[in-house]
Amino acid sequence: MTDPLALDPVLAPEERTPVPSREGVTPDAWVERFEAHVAAGHKVEASDPMPDEYRTAVLRFVEMHANSELMGVLPEREWLMRAPTLRRKLALTAKVQDEVGHAQLLYRIAEDLGKSREAMFDDLIDGRTKFHNVFHYPTRSWADVGIIAWLVDAAAIVAQQALRDSSYGPYARTMRKICWEESVHIMHGRDVVLTLVTGTPSQRAAVQDALDRWWGPLMQMHGPRSPREKDRDLHWRIKAKTSEELRQEFLTIYVPRLLELGLVIPDPALRFDEASALWQYTEPDWDELRTVVTNHGPMSQARLDFRRLAREETRWVRESILAAPRPAPRVA
Ligand SMILES: [Fe+2]
Ligand SMILES: [Fe+2]
Repeated sequence: MTDPLALDPVLAPEERTPVPSREGVTPDAWVERFEAHVAAGHKVEASDPMPDEYRTAVLRFVEMHANSELMGVLPEREWLMRAPTLRRKLALTAKVQDEVGHAQLLYRIAEDLGKSREAMFDDLIDGRTKFHNVFHYPTRSWADVGIIAWLVDAAAIVAQQALRDSSYGPYARTMRKICWEESVHIMHGRDVVLTLVTGTPSQRAAVQDALDRWWGPLMQMHGPRSPREKDRDLHWRIKAKTSEELRQEFLTIYVPRLLELGLVIPDPALRFDEASALWQYTEPDWDELRTVVTNHGPMSQARLDFRRLAREETRWVRESILAAPRPAPRVA
């Protein structure tokens, strides 16, 4: 579902605060002015001059996001042919299609920052760039499909909503469109989960089993705590919240919803501490996170193999479409 108003128009230079000019200032002084520009909440557009460090940071961030959207469809894709009803199959197909569309939009943004799509695919399938931890795990049952669409997308949207204010204008605008679609994915996931928990005892048990397996990866998803002042992506306002702020937000919204369904969250230490107004929880397994995102997770290689195969099988399409037109033969 796309709301045509979800994407803001690209503002003409005279309608926005322009990025400070480089003329008449030293390179260091210009970087300082650029920092003040983003710190004041102003935007940077693709055609603007930007410090190399900023360009590299936005590119790295958006490329990882694009990779995750692209790889993230594979766990769900495995269930397209096994969806329990035609209605569920249509909904899951639409979600998978949306996620590939998100990857497409994000790769375009990254391309504008100076890295070709071919180079990004090479780096992804050769393991030089990463994708989110949650997409390295198997989907064992239909309940996993519900938990992914509800809770993985929910954990993602908590981060993505904050990205609608990113200092990089094309990314901020694209995130508005993506967030619209993600909110529909969450409703689809919640409906799958709700149907199962109100179904037979074995359906309910399947949801609890899925939650037990996905809780660890979900708690790791936003990454370890890092001090705000040392985070370069926060400094450049590419993102707005720390990993711990995102995890706390996710817990505040979703713990009550899980408990409301009578599900047991597999962490006996999880509780809301009134004094600090923070959730306390068992420390997530950061070793597992590091192992998984470096492509040593249970499904990492199988999913990358699938991407390699798909890339080979569709090579002829790219070569046909992107081939430089040959001049027509001369007629004597
Ligand atoms: Fe997405
Ligand atoms: Fe999604």
